[in-house]
Amino acid sequence: MPARHCAGCPPSSSRQRHGCRPVPASGVIARLFKPSSAITFGFYAPPHTVCQFIGMGPRVSRIFVIGAAGKIGRALVQQAAARGHRVSAMHRSAEQSADLSALDAQPVQGDLLQLQPDALGTLMQDHDVVVFTAGAGGKGGPAMTDAIDGRGLELSVAAAVQAQVPRFLLVSAFPEAGRGKHLSDTFENYMAVKKAADVHLASSSLDWVILRPGTLTDAAGTGRVHAGLAIAYGEVPRADVAAALVALVEQPQVRRRIIELTGGRTPVFEALHQF
Ligand SMILES: NC(=O)c1ccc[n+]([C@@H]2O[C@H](COP(=O)([O-])OP(=O)(O)OC[C@H]3O[C@@H](n4cnc5c(N)ncnc54)[C@H](OP(=O)(O)O)[C@@H]3O)[C@@H](O)[C@H]2O)c1
Repeated sequence: MPARHCAGCPPSSSRQRHGCRPVPASGVIARLFKPSSAITFGFYAPPHTVCQFIGMGPRVSRIFVIGAAGKIGRALVQQAAARGHRVSAMHRSAEQSADLSALDAQPVQGDLLQLQPDALGTLMQDHDVVVFTAGAGGKGGPAMTDAIDGRGLELSVAAAVQAQVPRFLLVSAFPEAGRGKHLSDTFENYMAVKKAADVHLASSSLDWVILRPGTLTDAAGTGRVHAGLAIAYGEVPRADVAAALVALVEQPQVRRRIIELTGGRTPVFEALHQF
């Protein structure tokens, strides 16, 4: 099994200060004393537990996820809750509620086609960050893409402003998606709506980050990505997109950036730390 560092530790010097070391993916060895000291403690703990225990972990954030029952949404909910964040998981149907509770999230039922900004703003109150990863997924044709990826995003931005949630992370799409292929009208419309949503969020008063992943896959997460302001197109597992969103939640200094994301070689936290 490949070795890795505690996923929650900032890179390099602070990681050494924490005492986190490369360990098997099954856990983290935290050494609270230098190897040279007379007494050395070593023990296993779930990722980042030790760093949080000694007060060096990320600040706990209250995250409101829109599209929480989707594929990225579920991975995000699971990873964020596992790292101690408090997650409100907005979903459409009542049947999704139990699954989201089982991931240690607070399920919140809500439909972007039904909610008014006031009502959604009320649901968002007392959160630190909204993550929008909802989308029509091509179902319902251009009209549904307009309604969910487009107007649903605008509704969510208005609600976040009203609820005074300072930060907003949007899962968008790479502008190159579909380049070189014969695009259907539905896909062409999808790309136009995604870009218009980016424009809308970027012109808001919020502390936004727009994440543009390449083609999403259901492959297992690698914990490594390539992130940049402009990078070559590629694929990326949804689990790694979720990890990138968690890394962004934990790095509030990253703001007002459009970040492109594909699979890569850099540990996720480090890849997002550069911005
Ligand atoms: N496919 C790609 O290669 C690709 C590439 C880049 C970016 N993206 C974008 O990445 C995002 C997430 O992708 P994904 O694979 O996680 O998608 P997904 O599994 O289809 O999840 C989308 C979620 O949005 C929810 N949703 C749809 N309509 C809604 C409404 N009216 N109110 C509230 N929630 C609603 C869906 O709810 P239900 O569970 O009830 O259906 C679903 O849970 C999408 O915005 C997509 O456009 C995709």
